[in-house]
Amino acid sequence: VNHLLGIKYLNKEDIQLIFETADHFKEVINRPIKKVPSLRDITIANLFFENSTRTKLSFELAEKRLSADVINFSAGQSSVKKGETLIDTVNNILSMKVDMVVMRHPNPGAGVFLSKHVNASIVNAGDGAHEHPTQALLDSYSIRERLGEVKGKKVVIVGDILHSRVALSNIYALQLQGAKVMVCGPKTLIPKYIDKLGVKVETDLRKALEWCDVANMLRVQNERMDISYFPSTREYTQQFGVDKALLDSLNKEIVIMHPGPINRGVEITSDVADSNQAIILDQVENGVAIRMAVIYLLASKIKQ
Ligand code: CP
Repeated sequence: VNHLLGIKYLNKEDIQLIFETADHFKEVINRPIKKVPSLRDITIANLFFENSTRTKLSFELAEKRLSADVINFSAGQSSVKKGETLIDTVNNILSMKVDMVVMRHPNPGAGVFLSKHVNASIVNAGDGAHEHPTQALLDSYSIRERLGEVKGKKVVIVGDILHSRVALSNIYALQLQGAKVMVCGPKTLIPKYIDKLGVKVETDLRKALEWCDVANMLRVQNERMDISYFPSTREYTQQFGVDKALLDSLNKEIVIMHPGPINRGVEITSDVADSNQAIILDQVENGVAIRMAVIYLLASKIKQ
């Protein structure tokens, strides 16, 4: 398959290959000359129909470090505003001899839909509350880097599971690698489908933290909610926010992750986010190597 549409479509060996390739690129981007000529003959369009800081810049940097030609598209400044459809938009861009499309879109399934209607390699950079495969890959890669391996580790994903593409992609990726997964949050922010995924569910944050080796803290995605799913931000923080006092009261040191953007003082305090226990900026750093690996592996199939 010439796409990365979701972790659901990968197997354990795919993830292993991506990590080994990322290990090589991580070494490359730590050299004085961070660039390799691998994709000089490939052109990539980054299409962002939803806001992004990390994913957008990380993909662009990954592509440039592989020497691909790169064009960037933000829906807000485009002819989408004049009513042009997704398929027309992408086919017009592809007619300029573009080989690969990286797309973030607010609608779940947008990447799968596009892959059936256009002739290009599609990379899902986040589709609504569905999947964010490169985020889950860089998250697991960062756990592997900090703890040696993912297999057998206990990972809790805390917060707004219902609206999170990071949660679903992480659940798939962690389970493929043999980790044990728990979700923790208010009952109203835990989706009904969770029972089918074989993950533990906990509504008591302390119990979740006592169980885990790694806690991945999520932001509450108010922009995806029509109604409020919990009484107030203050009550959310009291029940599901981590601070240093809570972490220090555990009888072990757990690893703290966050995909960003952080709402400091809501789901995580600054003394935790900025501590050595947190690997939040390592996740961002590893995102470039992971995205280089994904693009390199997909592009090698285009060239065949
Ligand atoms: N983690 C993540 O997807 O961040 P952005 O929305 O800034 O890309």
